[in-house]
Amino acid sequence: CGIIGYIGKREVAPILIDGLKRMEYRGYDSAGVAMINGKKELDIRKRKGRVSVVASEVEADHFSAHVGIGHTRWATHGGVTDTNAHPHVSSCGRFIMVHNGIIENYENMRSFLISKGYTFKSETDSEALVNLIAYHFDERTKDYNEDRFLEAVRKALLHVEGTYGIAVISPLFPNEIIAARKGSPLIIGIGNGEHFIASDVSGFSGRAKNVIYLEDGQVASITKDDCDILTIGKQQVECVIKEIDWEMETAELGSYKHFMEKEIFEQRKAIENAIRGRLSDDQSTAVLNGLNITANELRSIDRILLCACGTAWHACLVAEYLIERYARIPVEVEYASEFRYRNPPLDKNTLVFVISQSGETIDTLEALRESKRKGFKTLAITNVVGSTIARESDGGLYQYSGKEIGVASTKAFTSQIIIMLLVALYLGRMRDLSFADGKEIVSAIKALPDLIDETLKQADVVRKIAKKYSKFPDFLFLGRLEEYPIALEGALKLKEISYIHAEGYPAAEMKHGPIALVCPECPAVIFANQGEIFQKVISNAKEIGARKGPVILITDSPDEIESGLADDVIAIPKAHDAVRTIIDTIPIQLLAYYIAVERGCDVDKPRNLAKSVTVE
Ligand code: G6P
Repeated sequence: CGIIGYIGKREVAPILIDGLKRMEYRGYDSAGVAMINGKKELDIRKRKGRVSVVASEVEADHFSAHVGIGHTRWATHGGVTDTNAHPHVSSCGRFIMVHNGIIENYENMRSFLISKGYTFKSETDSEALVNLIAYHFDERTKDYNEDRFLEAVRKALLHVEGTYGIAVISPLFPNEIIAARKGSPLIIGIGNGEHFIASDVSGFSGRAKNVIYLEDGQVASITKDDCDILTIGKQQVECVIKEIDWEMETAELGSYKHFMEKEIFEQRKAIENAIRGRLSDDQSTAVLNGLNITANELRSIDRILLCACGTAWHACLVAEYLIERYARIPVEVEYASEFRYRNPPLDKNTLVFVISQSGETIDTLEALRESKRKGFKTLAITNVVGSTIARESDGGLYQYSGKEIGVASTKAFTSQIIIMLLVALYLGRMRDLSFADGKEIVSAIKALPDLIDETLKQADVVRKIAKKYSKFPDFLFLGRLEEYPIALEGALKLKEISYIHAEGYPAAEMKHGPIALVCPECPAVIFANQGEIFQKVISNAKEIGARKGPVILITDSPDEIESGLADDVIAIPKAHDAVRTIIDTIPIQLLAYYIAVERGCDVDKPRNLAKSVTVE
């Protein structure tokens, strides 16, 4: 979910709507705003659906106000309805709140509040908290002359188990917003006689240069001129103001139909940005200053743990192959959400890396924190400069892929792979990887941008194949070695944006179960590239053909494919083992994209998903 807030001199409605549009990547099930004007009148608009739905209502409304909060939701507790959309109002009507996070003890809170006469309209956990604030206002802060609003919120928060980023307004206090954070990020932007609040800086992009990152366990009273921060235990906090270097990015579609399509075609640039300045002068290794870790520390590493979610987790799986092959360091890959609760044994020579495009995914963030809590140096790879994960990690590497807007990750994925290849190369050259092997990998990296262009030329071929198979109900994606994670990614891309059931498997594993699915309605997309296992994969393809399953081969050796083996062939250029997964990825991204377009799906904002999931 995404939160926005504003207090100052300007008309608040356009600021809220613009901020919500920028934060729609955090969820787009419903959206809403609440504004209070100088006469203490309140206007709330909230609707299920995209920000654009509520935006047209707000625009038609012409409600003039200078204080307000807004929210874009990714549903957790309670279905996607107008009533469950934020902001939520206490039953007395005096407190209005937006919330990102999950209140785990909301049922207890709710029963307690119902026993005290409070009523509920929605099924959300958030409504319990806003009513609890009202309860504390009435029952626990009656004698307060000052800071009563802040105190009511602070006292209520003492009873919350779970996570929250909240912003609260009240017609009783029309010149104040209370914001608080535990687990879900919240940032205060400082303007001239105005303050902004947002879940991340993009919410007030370009409008405020100075920001305060609210820390966990802090609660702030924000007026147009002041910002007073306390800990939830009522200790005064000194505000640390940081300056943001806005890199205004254009998010124009240009000649493309969707951002996903644009981002697939931007992969050359994304790869060039990821490697710029990161290859050594002697062209045999990588230069990775951002890691913020000494060569000696790196030499003592004997195990690497990689943590991430979704597509970034697939990048970790590719990295496992690359690091083990070139650096010979054992690697383990964990889902971030599992790592946190599984408590795996790690020793002092384990290096932990988290990978997150957005730098805001809560599961990945919590894995980072858990690893740091255990005393491990924890590094991050992320695309968003200044994101929570970037700020909290001990060091890391930015991807510089440019903004990724399509919910299904494309250019960020291939960029994560190339960065992990640089890490593998760097670690390898500190160990047994020879100068000659290092040089060979560097030249493979340098050749990559042109190979990407060549692969993208297959777009029309892929589009025709997509048309042919777009109505099929199931797909298999098969690959071996490091092409297995690409098979997983192919299946994920297709599921995410076209809602077709798909599974990725190591090609040889197919005969141990998934082969039962093979039939004329279940095509298999198979990576068959030159190398020691080429013939083995070809045999796997034959096993599918023999059972009348359509075979779509992605291959760098189309001339060596005997006729009748494949129903369709996508030819890709020959690439070095180190970078081949990046080339393999492009056709599966294009295939998923064209199938989704063919099926009339909302490619950039698929149902039920969010670009970055900021609740557990
Ligand atoms: C969400 C998105 C996925 C993404 C995952 C991790 O689930 O829908 O596309 O791969 O989050 O995102 P991150 O920003 O941490 O890489």
